[in-house]
Amino acid sequence: MSIRTIVVPLGGGLDRLQITSTAPRQPGHGEITVRLHASSLNYHDYVVVTGVWAPREPRIPMSDGAGVVTAVGEGVTEFQVGDAVVSLFFPEWADGEPGPSEGNFARVPGDGLDGYAREQVTAKASAFTHAPQGYSHAEAATLTCAGLTAWRALMADGLLKPGDSVLVQGTGGVSIFALQFAKLAGATVIATSSSDAKLERLRALGADQLINYRENPNWGETVRAMTEGRGVDHVIEIGGPGTMEQSMIAARIGGHIAIIGILTGLVGQVSFIQAIARHLKLQGVLVGNRKHQLDMIRAIDATGMKPQIDSRYPLEEIAEAFRHQESNRHFGKICLEF
Ligand SMILES: NC(=O)c1ccc[n+]([C@@H]2O[C@H](COP(=O)([O-])OP(=O)(O)OC[C@H]3O[C@@H](n4cnc5c(N)ncnc54)[C@H](OP(=O)(O)O)[C@@H]3O)[C@@H](O)[C@H]2O)c1
Repeated sequence: MSIRTIVVPLGGGLDRLQITSTAPRQPGHGEITVRLHASSLNYHDYVVVTGVWAPREPRIPMSDGAGVVTAVGEGVTEFQVGDAVVSLFFPEWADGEPGPSEGNFARVPGDGLDGYAREQVTAKASAFTHAPQGYSHAEAATLTCAGLTAWRALMADGLLKPGDSVLVQGTGGVSIFALQFAKLAGATVIATSSSDAKLERLRALGADQLINYRENPNWGETVRAMTEGRGVDHVIEIGGPGTMEQSMIAARIGGHIAIIGILTGLVGQVSFIQAIARHLKLQGVLVGNRKHQLDMIRAIDATGMKPQIDSRYPLEEIAEAFRHQESNRHFGKICLEF
């Protein structure tokens, strides 16, 4: 048997992605073999496949992987053949504070290590968790990066409480998960988008107040006005340098800004006096650990929450899927199914 596998050649490029086949391997001690059935696209995967962040060697892309356990190695007690599982962004970060391995992407599947754009993988059992009950493989695959980032930002770092207010930016994977988790936890949500049509879809998902950030570049003040001058408790900051100033205006005194995204660039200016005078808690977030993922899945099992899937592509149409992401027409997660 050979395993259909996507490879990013040196230098990357959507037109240069290759479909190859790799050989299967039996699981060793502590390992499982997973027949992968789905992945989902993240901006991070986009910069890997397009070569913006080119790996130093040809690489199997995609951090997100979901499928079914087909073989179990000696010493594995957590999984059985037939279990539905989903991958971890940081396979070696079990719990607690991030360590040196979590300070970069060297140990991340689909970046420093081979990822899940393939039909089968044999890996350490600890690189997976059980998938939520009743989830399709595509739904499960959305959790590894986007879902876990939103969960950690709000629940693990933000310690969100019922009644808190949350600002989410745009309609990508992380922001829609943050909207959904915030609503599940009894928070109120202000959501922004560049598109009025997408804003209406955010309303249908439970957003309480809406702002078109393209028509209203000073949306930070609008958020303050919407909260009677107080500002929000939590900001899901996905824009980066181009949105941070408005996010700092939108946050309440002592508010929490989860610094997550870099959609407008990598480096920019921050008003230190604003951060100091307003007692802001600025927290960099890079996905999360296995304990966060187990907690998130427990919450999903308890509530039946489902991710927002925009579209699904077969594995061999991976370049088309990324072109769709590039177009910014999507609302929520774009998935690969195989
Ligand atoms: N730190 C982490 O752990 C982590 C994890 C996952 C993702 N990220 C980062 O978070 C960002 C979003 O990731 P994603 O996967 O959710 O991306 P995505 O699904 O591709 O989301 C893109 C969406 O962001 C919105 N957007 C773009 N520019 C914006 C701006 N200036 N202001 C507000 N919204 C804007 C757009 O929404 P509208 O079309 O509605 O305007 C766009 O559709 C990326 O930079 C990604 O690298 C970080």
